[in-house]
Amino acid sequence: MKAVINNEYGDPDVLRIAEIEKPVVNEDELLIKIHYTTATTVDSTFRKGDSFFARLFTGAFKPKKNVLGGEFSGVVEETGKSVTSFKKGDKVWGGAPDGFGAYAEYIKVNRNDAVSLIPDGVSFDFAAASYGALTALPFLRDEGKIEKGMQVLINGASGSIGSFAVQLAKFYDCEVTALCSPRNFELVKSLGADYAFDYSSPEISGQLKKYDIIFDAVGKTSFGKTKRYLKKNGRYLTTVVTPAILWQKLFTRFIGGKKAIIAFTGLRSANEKLRDMDFVNKLMSIGKLKPLIDREYDIQQIRAAHGYVDKGHKRGNVVIKLI
Ligand SMILES: NC(=O)c1ccc[n+]([C@@H]2O[C@H](COP(=O)([O-])OP(=O)(O)OC[C@H]3O[C@@H](n4cnc5c(N)ncnc54)[C@H](OP(=O)(O)O)[C@@H]3O)[C@@H](O)[C@H]2O)c1
Repeated sequence: MKAVINNEYGDPDVLRIAEIEKPVVNEDELLIKIHYTTATTVDSTFRKGDSFFARLFTGAFKPKKNVLGGEFSGVVEETGKSVTSFKKGDKVWGGAPDGFGAYAEYIKVNRNDAVSLIPDGVSFDFAAASYGALTALPFLRDEGKIEKGMQVLINGASGSIGSFAVQLAKFYDCEVTALCSPRNFELVKSLGADYAFDYSSPEISGQLKKYDIIFDAVGKTSFGKTKRYLKKNGRYLTTVVTPAILWQKLFTRFIGGKKAIIAFTGLRSANEKLRDMDFVNKLMSIGKLKPLIDREYDIQQIRAAHGYVDKGHKRGNVVIKLI
């Protein structure tokens, strides 16, 4: 089967299309023909290998797994003997095991992995693009303890995680302030944000108030810079790991009302992810959550897709069509 492989870390040119062996399923597994995958900032980070923390996971000197792609939608092609919850022809979406392997024509997953039926009326591209909600949701709900009426500030609100966070915070009936560049003000308001401010404006400190949750969806600010905008027991959440946030998380756990929090949503159990996929399916079915799709590329254009993601200004999600 065709797949995108990268045998070394580097810029998008390290990605190339190659022929690799089609997976063979055992009795606990299912084979899925992939229709759409995505190009995410996580894929870019894994491709570049420029993060010390990422290399602990992806391989110190060269990639341990050479097919990127953490998210997919597609159709079940074959099921192992003991798979009862899926059948050939089912339309599914999900996360690739360990976050790798979806840049390929086929992927095999265990019957207990994070794979769910696509709700009626949701297209393959939207289903693949929905997986980022499985980061925004646990951050806001489990780490932020989001509740109705809270004031929530989202930094990077026009990105993938941020655009899901805006919609989810509105679903929880919160007042949402979005930080993004001015070209995206209307976009984040269309997702439900009550206010939109420019993160780079010199006036920003006068525009902000105090928040119950500051969700730095893109990890571009810090607990130190933002804690004065937190309420007494407010929580600063970030998606990006640094030595500072690890120390601050430990320290604020025991001292002071304001908390600094980092989480790693990809490391949650398949059961937790499946529970959240059910929730996301329900929200999508009732129109309360809709992934934002910025661009679509064919798999042959994977280098261009990664080049675009690398610029750091995508709006929502970039989807990759396989068939
Ligand atoms: N911890 C976890 O479990 C976990 C899980 C998944 C992802 N992540 C991480 O989460 C991060 C965000 O992922 P993503 O997919 O949402 O990213 P993304 O879609 O690539 O983010 C793009 C957005 O970042 C905004 N941005 C760029 N510079 C900014 C700045 N200085 N201040 C504020 N916003 C800025 C851009 O807004 P403008 O164009 O308006 O400037 C753009 O819309 C990534 O670093 C990823 O690795 C962590």
